[in-house]
Parts: sequence; C-alpha cells; structure tokens
Amino acid sequence: MLDQPSPFSSGTPVARPPVDGVLGAIGRTPLVALHAYPDRADVHLFGKLEASNPGGSAKDRPAARMIEDAWDRGLLGPGSTVVESSSGNMGVGLAQACRSRGLAFVCVVDARTNRSNVLAMRALGAEVRIVTRPDPATGDLLAARLALVAEIVAATPGAFRTDQYRNPANAVAHEDGTMREIIEALDGRIDQLLVATSTTGTLRGCVDALHAHGLHDTQVVAVDAMGSALFGGTRGPRLLPGFGAGVPTELSERAEYDRLVRVSDLDCVVGCRRLALREGVLAGASSGGLMTAFDRLAPELPAGARCAAILHDGGARYLETVYDDDWVARELDCDAAGLADLVAGGPALPVA
Ligand SMILES: Cc1ncc(COP(=O)(O)O)c(C=O)c1O
Repeated sequence: MLDQPSPFSSGTPVARPPVDGVLGAIGRTPLVALHAYPDRADVHLFGKLEASNPGGSAKDRPAARMIEDAWDRGLLGPGSTVVESSSGNMGVGLAQACRSRGLAFVCVVDARTNRSNVLAMRALGAEVRIVTRPDPATGDLLAARLALVAEIVAATPGAFRTDQYRNPANAVAHEDGTMREIIEALDGRIDQLLVATSTTGTLRGCVDALHAHGLHDTQVVAVDAMGSALFGGTRGPRLLPGFGAGVPTELSERAEYDRLVRVSDLDCVVGCRRLALREGVLAGASSGGLMTAFDRLAPELPAGARCAAILHDGGARYLETVYDDDWVARELDCDAAGLADLVAGGPALPVA
C-alpha cells in the first residue's frame, strides 16, 4: 500500500480551489496504484486515470491546448469554424473547448466511433459528419476522413483545421501535462512507461518530458493496434476506436520509443475485463491493450520496478462493445465461456 492518509479520514484536506471554466478542470488526473493487477507482486504498476478529465479522456488536454495556441497566435477568433477528424475522444475534447470559446466545430468521424461520443459532441453543439466508406484509393477510413476534412475546410469561410496529426501543441499538452504530472507524482522514479498510440501526440509529449527531466533510462513502450499502419505496420481490419491509425501520421514519423507491442481487439477486451474485475477500474479499449502488453512484458522486469500506464479513457463508452459478451462473440469470434477463460488467465493469448 502507498504511505498516504485515507481520503476518508477526518482532517484530510478535500477541497481544490475553484477553476476558471471547464477548461480549467482539465488535468491533475489521479494516478492510481493498481495493487491486484500485476501477477508479479514485486512490480508496481500505476494507472493514470485520464477519464477524470471533464470530457472523459486524455484528448481534452491537446484539444484545449490546440485551441488556445491557435487563438493566441491569431489563427482563430470570433466567427471561426474549427474542423477536425477524430476517432471520437478528440472530437469531444474539441467540442468542449470550442463551446467554451464560442466557436463553431465540425467533426468528421467514421463508423467505428462510439455512439455515445457522437451524441456527446452533438450535445456540446458540434456538427458531426460520419464517414462510412473507406477512401477508394487506399481503402482506409482515416484517409477518407481526412479527405472530407479538406473538402469542408475549402468550402467553409473562416475554417481552421487543428490537424492533431501534425500539430506540435498536441504533443506539448502531454509533455506539460500528462507526463509532468506522472513524473512529479512518482518523484521521477519510473522504470517503464506504457503509452497507446494513434496520432502519437501522447507518446511524443511523454518522451519529450522524460528527456527534459533527464530521465533517459525509463523504458518507453509504445502499444499499437494490430492492423495499424504506424511504425511500419501493415494496415488491416480493426474494430475498436481510439488507437492505431490506417495511415502513418506526421507526428509518428519522428516518434521515439524503446519497445513496440501490437495488440489485437481481443487482447484489448481481455485486458479491459481483467482491469475491471481485478481493480474495479472500468477503462476504455486502448487501456485494456496496455494491460495485456504489460502482462506480456512483466516477466522481464526487475524486482521493485515502477511502471506507469496512461489509461486514455473510461469504459462507459465501450459498454456495447468491449463489455458486451454478445458483441465479442459476434465480432471477435470468442464466446462467453472462452472469454471468461482468457480473462481468468486461461490459455495464453497469442504473442504479437
Ligand atoms: C482511447 C485512446 N487511446 C489512445 C489514443 C492515442 O493517443 P494519441 O493520439 O496521442 O497517440 C487515443 C487517441 O485518440 C484514444 O482516443
């Protein structure tokens, strides 16, 4: 157990000072010691609960940062329309940031995006366009989304494209926020960091923060989806939104990491289910992927190793997929009994 007072004991300060608007509530998310998770009791694993951001994911950070940065540089102002392609979470973060600045926002998503994210964006005043057919030239949904973004930008007066795939403010938000918070919380003692990848803004920002703090020995593990074209991967079918990319992003071309682990949709489901049942943490698909990657790498870790995993979003948006036995049986060809076996630590999952 961590040497900390219980939050329920009398005398423990509970209040935080008020913040200025919803964007002020972004960040300072909890870092949770996952006691029951590792099969190796001598290894410490910490999960950064990014679902605690007001828009429900880590993407609140780069969304707010990209809007503030463009506003400060005079690229955006009253009357502007922000346009972005998103798998869902960035869309919710941008819808929130644009509302708080009184800006219009058009988000292009694809058929994999969780319905609850689409509804959340609309509730926050965004226009959501859903791409259902892949780009004819590449056969890819992300390429189709980006083509529609370019069309909308060309046809909309005052349009501004945040372009999370190459915008440096995406990575800076994680350097200054997510990773700096982890470094401070763990007094700079981090042996392994696990990061799920899509634009690779989180990975890039975390590596930059580690270097800026002189932490060159932390092993950085990039966890990508099987079927993702990042890091020389071959594009293939993927059902779960949020991580992986059908085409390499500009940020990913300069990405640094020490290990790459690729996980399947089923690996994500198993990791999520284990995290929920062992720790009571209801997390999103990519977090389950991190947990499976951690399980695979844990035997190599030295005793006493301290590991941190960034849990990008929460599980509520995945109740109809990752946490639904019928969906898993139908889409991933794994029946409830087989899944329960895997979750309980039954037959080993295939190594990527
Ligand atoms: C659930 C989830 N996990 C991981 C990622 C990867 O983050 P990044 O785009 O910074 O690589 C995303 C990005 O959308 C996400 O939504």
